[in-house]
Order: sequence, then C-alpha cells, then structure tokens
Amino acid sequence: MIDQERQIWIVDFGSQYTQLITKKTRELNYSSEILTVEMARERVTKKKLPQAIVLSGGPHSIFDDKDDYKFLLELDLPLLGICYGLQILSQYLGGAVEAGVTAEYGDSIVEQCGDSLKNVCPPKFQVWMSHFDHVAKVPDGFELILRSQHGMVAGILNREKKMMGLQFHPEVDHTDHGNDILDYFFSDIAKLKKDWVTSNIIDELLDEMKPLKGEKVLCAFSGGVDSLVAASLAHQVFGTDLHCFFVDHGLLRPQDHHHIETLIDQTGLNIKIIDAKEDFLSKLLGVSDPEKKRKIIGHTFIDVFEKKVHQYENEQGIRFAHLLQGTLYPDVIESVSPHKSGGKSVTIKSHHNVGGLPEKMKLKLIEPLRFLFKDEGRKIGLKLGLEHDWVYRHPFPGPGIGIRVLGELDQKSIDQVGKSDQILFEELHNFSLYNSIAQAFTVLLPVHTVGVKGDGRVFERVICLRLVSTSDYMTASWSDVPRDFLTTVSRRITNEVVGITRVVYDVTSKPPGTIEWE
Ligand code: XMP
Repeated sequence: MIDQERQIWIVDFGSQYTQLITKKTRELNYSSEILTVEMARERVTKKKLPQAIVLSGGPHSIFDDKDDYKFLLELDLPLLGICYGLQILSQYLGGAVEAGVTAEYGDSIVEQCGDSLKNVCPPKFQVWMSHFDHVAKVPDGFELILRSQHGMVAGILNREKKMMGLQFHPEVDHTDHGNDILDYFFSDIAKLKKDWVTSNIIDELLDEMKPLKGEKVLCAFSGGVDSLVAASLAHQVFGTDLHCFFVDHGLLRPQDHHHIETLIDQTGLNIKIIDAKEDFLSKLLGVSDPEKKRKIIGHTFIDVFEKKVHQYENEQGIRFAHLLQGTLYPDVIESVSPHKSGGKSVTIKSHHNVGGLPEKMKLKLIEPLRFLFKDEGRKIGLKLGLEHDWVYRHPFPGPGIGIRVLGELDQKSIDQVGKSDQILFEELHNFSLYNSIAQAFTVLLPVHTVGVKGDGRVFERVICLRLVSTSDYMTASWSDVPRDFLTTVSRRITNEVVGITRVVYDVTSKPPGTIEWE
C-alpha cells in the first residue's frame, strides 16, 4: 500500500503538525502521505507525481535556508503552503519575506480580504499562528485573501495556478474553519476526488495481501485494536492459514483473560494461548529496575514465542512464511527534531516495533496497517464487524502489570494490581466513564502506610489510580472524574483487595510525568 502514489504529498519541513495535516486531509477523504524533500525529489525524477502538494510548516527561517525547493513549485501541480510553506512559496514566486518585528504565536484573529472565501468561513475568525518571519510582498498573480489582526499577510491565492498559502495552521483544532479551508483548497481549487473512504481502503488492503493467499501466516496477537484489526483483515485472505498466538506472560489483568476468551469465541480467528507465566516470572523475580524488567520481558517474549511456534510447526507439519503485525503509520514515520538532527525532518523507519522476531525467525512481514493512523484502523475494524468495545479498548502496554508494580515483582503484588484494575474498570463502566477516558489503570506503590481496619492498626500498601485524557499519548492531562466515582473505587479497593489500605489519585500531566509510572 505504501508504494502506491497518493493524491497528496505532504512535504515535511520539520513541523510538529505534519502528521496532523496528513490526518486532516484523510479525514476529508483525500489520500495523503508524508515525504521528505529528498523523497519528493526522487519521485519527481522517476515521474511519479501526486495530484497536489502541501508544503508543511517548519522551524526554520527562510533566510537560513540554502536548500532548493524550486522543483516542487515548477511541477505545475496544485500546491498549498502552510506557514513556512507559504514563505517558501512567496520567496520562490517573486514575493518577499521579511524577518518579523513582532512574532505571532498562538491564537490570533484573521479577517477576509476580497470574497474568495466568502462561502467558506466568516469575515473574521480565530486561527493558530506560530511564526516570526512574514510575507511582506505578495507574489504577482496572487490575491490577498486573509489578513491578520496585526495587518500581516495571512492567506494568498492564485486560482489560475491552483496555489494557496496560509500563514496559520488550518490543521490544528485551535483554528476555526481549518477543515473548511483545507476542503475548499482540495475540492474547489485542486479539484481532487474524495476517494479515501473505508470501503476502498479495505479493498486495497485485501488486494495487496491476495497474492500471498495459501501461504502460512503467523501473528503475535495481543488482543489490542491494532493486532485485532490486522488479523481480522488478514483472516479474510488467509482464512485458516492465519495462526494467532497470544502469549500469557502472567502479567495480565482478569479483564485481559476475559477479552481473549471472548475474541476466541466470537471472531472466528484461530487464536492459541501460550501459557508462559513461569518462564517470565522466574526471570523477573528480584529485578526492580524498570528498564531491566522491560528488557527481560521483551527478550523472554521472543524466546518463548519462537520456541512454542517451532514446536507447533513440527507438530502440525507446517512452516510459517510470514509474520503479520499491526504496525501503524506513526511507527513507520519517525519525526526527527530538525534541531537535534541538524537537518530536516522525517525519516522512514522500517519495521520499528517488531522486537527482533522476524529476523530471528526468518519471516517476511505483512503489515496491512502500516500506512494508516489508529483511527483509520478503528474505522476499518468497525466496518469489518468488530465490536465497538474491542475497537475502542484502552491500550495496555506489552510489559503489562510488570511495569505497574513499582520495583520488585511477586505474585501477591501482581494479583493486587490485577484485582484493583478489575474494580477500576467495573466502576468506569458503571459510571459510564470508560469511553471518555483514553487510558486508566492502577499502580502499586512500593511503600507501606499506616491505616486502621476493624479495630486494629495495619501497615499496608498503597494503590495509585492513573486516568488520563489524550488523543496521541505523546501529551496527556489527568482526567477530572467525579468525586463519587473516586470514592466508590477507593472504598472497593480498600475493602476488596487484600493488603491495600490507601488509594491515591495521580494529578500529573504528561509532560512532565509519563503516562506509566515506570
Ligand atoms: P508513557 O508512559 O511513555 O506511555 O507516557 C505512552 C503510552 O505507551 C504505553 N507504553 C508502552 N506500551 N510497551 C508497550 O507496548 C511499553 O514498554 C510501554 N511503555 C509505555 C503506555 O501504556 C501509554 O499508552
């Protein structure tokens, strides 16, 4: 899928919003992909062209820039420049860019000039700006369509050349009418067709896998939305030749066991559970360093998986040729900070989250979702008939409870977290809060505190509740949940989980705190 030419190239100049432009254009049903300038240059040389180009924003100043982007402007394709992209466009087409006297950062108001956007947005509206340099002279042939409250150029358009430039970011939610303006450009100016719809995407993904039909495919199945959607798609092509293995590392919550049993019963997928609790726990006992725990869990996963799968191959007299994975687009595109790397911008990583399995087992990868964002994967899952609850399940990290018992692990601590988490989830559902929270879990703190139970003094451990709101898991805020809910969860955990006398609530955002505690 990744090899096919998309309608829109989003050429990345290092903006933190590049992925958002891609997401937004796809939500408007146009197919788009992120390219570096070098990738774009290579494709132009091979005459593989899109139907439109977006030049993203970026942290650079046009005055420091020695790179030559002219080739992008000479393709005679519809082109939208955003922020830094507008400045490139203006600079190369005969306008003038000046270093700013006042920067415009954050919320700003723009107003329409002329009537090009009169049916698209109101005369004045709020936008998100982040720039210092500005366009001082509009290039010939362009009309000024938007001006900022400080009188600066905020939008220009050349209808004939099908080129538009915006000084603000239409892709961020802080900009009102951002989607309307993007859609105006791609639909009215660039005349693109809205082809990026779930049913077409599914057809394309299935077509891509069909040549491999008949081969044996292995899947390390976690039950999370990505592996579930990838497996459900692959199942349509490979049927019983797709074998899913779920590794039980003993660091699961009661609801995870229940979830897997439900999927086995209801999806028709061939899922086998590998019981490897002993393998993991024996290696983890006495280890308290979080990174060491993660490494042990990762390595043991590969060892156990490989051993069990070879055993299965020998028993069944089959050989697996492919490994199916639920890798998503953000895993494939790694944004590198231009400041750190000294250059621009995205690097395309191959096989980011495979944990060494395919190399070790000499398997070829099938990654049907590698061009998609999580929400696109979810839509596919729903279209394939998967339950809403499965598709919108909170993420659960691979190392599971292993990183939620702070410090050393033992069976009692693992059970305390498992039971607390089960209570938390039951109450999230009882209070109808589950779907409004991105991720919720309990953490066992490595301290004992004094309490009173019955008539006696106890000296027991503490459970922390962590509930966060986020859409990308890169930043997050703690969830402001009702007091009654917290009271109920606290009462139940201290009553029902042996050895816990105190429950605390984490009110830390990310940054500075990460979502997990370890
Ligand atoms: P942090 O703690 O980095 O978490 O803010 C962001 C998201 O990533 C998940 N996470 C992991 N997932 N293996 C995983 O599969 C890991 O080692 C791991 N560490 C964190 C975390 O649950 C959250 O959704």
